[in-house]
Amino acid sequence: MSAPSSAIQSTLIENRVFEPSAATVAAARVGGMAAYETLCAEADKDPEGFWSRLARENLSWHKPFTKTLDESNAPFYKWFDDGELNASYNCLDRHMGTPVENKTAIIFEADGGEVTQVTYKELLGKVSQFANALKAKGVKKGDRVVIYMPMTIEGVVAMQACARIGATHSVVFGGFSAKALQERIQDAGAVAVITANYQLRGGKELPLKAIVDEGIALGGCECVKDVIVFQRTPTACNMVAGRDSLMHEVMAGQSTDCPAEMVGAEHPLFVLYTSGSTGKPKGVQHSTGGYLLWAKLTMDWTFDLKPNDIFWCTADIGWITGHSYVAYGPLAAGATQIVFEGVPTFPNAGRFWQMIERHKCTIFYTAPTAIRSLIKAAEGDEKVHPARSDLSSLRLLGSVGEPINPEAWMWYYKHVGGERCPIVDTFWQTETGGHMITPLPGATPLVPGSCTLPLPGIAAAIVDEAGHDMPNGSGGILVVKRPWPSMIRTIWGDPERFKKSYFPEELKGFYLAGDGAVRSADRGYFRITGRIDDVLNVSGHRMGTMEIESALVAKTDLVAEAAVVGRPDDLTGEAIVAFVVLKRPRPTGEEAKAIAKILRDWVGKEIGPIAKPKDIRFGDNLPKTRSGKIMRRLLRGIAKGEAITQDTSTLENPAILDQLSENN
Ligand code: PRX
Repeated sequence: MSAPSSAIQSTLIENRVFEPSAATVAAARVGGMAAYETLCAEADKDPEGFWSRLARENLSWHKPFTKTLDESNAPFYKWFDDGELNASYNCLDRHMGTPVENKTAIIFEADGGEVTQVTYKELLGKVSQFANALKAKGVKKGDRVVIYMPMTIEGVVAMQACARIGATHSVVFGGFSAKALQERIQDAGAVAVITANYQLRGGKELPLKAIVDEGIALGGCECVKDVIVFQRTPTACNMVAGRDSLMHEVMAGQSTDCPAEMVGAEHPLFVLYTSGSTGKPKGVQHSTGGYLLWAKLTMDWTFDLKPNDIFWCTADIGWITGHSYVAYGPLAAGATQIVFEGVPTFPNAGRFWQMIERHKCTIFYTAPTAIRSLIKAAEGDEKVHPARSDLSSLRLLGSVGEPINPEAWMWYYKHVGGERCPIVDTFWQTETGGHMITPLPGATPLVPGSCTLPLPGIAAAIVDEAGHDMPNGSGGILVVKRPWPSMIRTIWGDPERFKKSYFPEELKGFYLAGDGAVRSADRGYFRITGRIDDVLNVSGHRMGTMEIESALVAKTDLVAEAAVVGRPDDLTGEAIVAFVVLKRPRPTGEEAKAIAKILRDWVGKEIGPIAKPKDIRFGDNLPKTRSGKIMRRLLRGIAKGEAITQDTSTLENPAILDQLSENN
């Protein structure tokens, strides 16, 4: 395997093409490139007509919309604005009285291997009971509810129950720290937090409720009136009288009937925090109508969903992928899906393959980081190789979250997909709500390492800094030239930042994705070359360099200054490297190691373990330009171990470059 940088090299000369088989084309919803092009032409000719047709066909509307797109206050676009619907109704009630009613909605496999299943009808009952319980607590339409839960049926129930009563949920990934949770609770002004006593990962019981208590105790969370605790394990947890209650107790006695609260199509279904270029995470606000349309439609288009599919998206509900392709898309599409609580390496690194065999999974959707780590495990131990499991049920594979290097793509194709399953490399973002650039399995010829072509109606393009189109073959800035239904609506509480971050003036009103990309000269296929801002992608997790820097300098007794950059990593895509100036003389040897550990643990507490720098280097100061700006490009080079070719004559103390090159 090679690092992404060399993977990029190898995609430049990538000439392997995998055409869909005639049988796949014949059976596909969008069968063949001509069918794809017909949809694109329909969308180009009359975008509003296209989207309104799809919105009517794919969603149940309580009140039909009369206007498709309102651009009067761009970039605050409104879609299907006067229509009314409910997301939970569309995921559950809509299937009642159809063959989906008694179909399995979720096959849940716990960390320890126990399997629980619920049908659509049973899930509707649970969601309704919990929705009634939330109402009984006084939670109402428009309120925000923070969900800090493990991957469980109850996690999905919590999200759906919020949607059912029109409360806007904000799911916080269970790996985030008390501080990160507190900031999100505060920013969202949440009235309730839904959590679990513990989560189980790799055989270990890890606290969640205790972190909620710690987060709230940090202050400024007076908005929280209720904390509802799902008892995942028998172990007791601290309960605050008058504020905390147990999920099963509040549900007991509640009716399994709870009519869904109809909301306007633009009603915020959820706010999901993600990292940006500046310190504070952004609350990405999504709508109900446009978002749900896209979640449902991409299940059909990208995954070419069939009634008998067993769909498995391995993403956590704490990320956008777990929203669109666990909590909403599969349910809106009436699919049977697998929800997995644990980690891919427990009890051994063959877990994913064994689960595919056990549940006869047909569509498997995961992240390149997981694939790369499982390749490594399989190469080291034949017992956890996918060849040891019967993977013949699979018909389609997917990849998401970061560029997939062609070597990993080929391994996935060969050893998991048996050279028969297409791979959909789906490029998208928290802000886009669903897939943007991706192959369609029954249409698009595949090229390893390329996310190929935009979905119909998605006006993706590559431009220069002034918004001019770049010719195929030359790289540039990835933009989307026209609005689409599932796009971010605003940043919660900060519309100015929304405009500035995503619709900068120089780009003529185009949506700025924040990624660089290049289109191939022959096919016009897109290849994402990585972020162009100060955002890192570590194991498919998005991290802001400034966020980590702020965390480091918040360790005021030790740290004077810090700069954080990414460097390519074979396994995690990118790794975090921090350059730190201490308030004491520069440490070396064992002392440096000990301080690096203190700082790593500190960042783990400030943000979460995923933000811990892999490398911490100490210097007497940081390399800066005459105007005092940190020379990040130089630091990126040093982090990669590259020889310094830049002019460093302006540096006050060039000797620090040697210091900063030393590993701890
Ligand atoms: O850099 C791109 C990368 O992940 C970023 C979005 O991260 P997030 O909002 O956390 O959403 C991840 C799940 C959709 C993008 O700006 N990215 C995502 N998918 C791909 C990708 N890079 C290359 N290829 C992909 N398929």
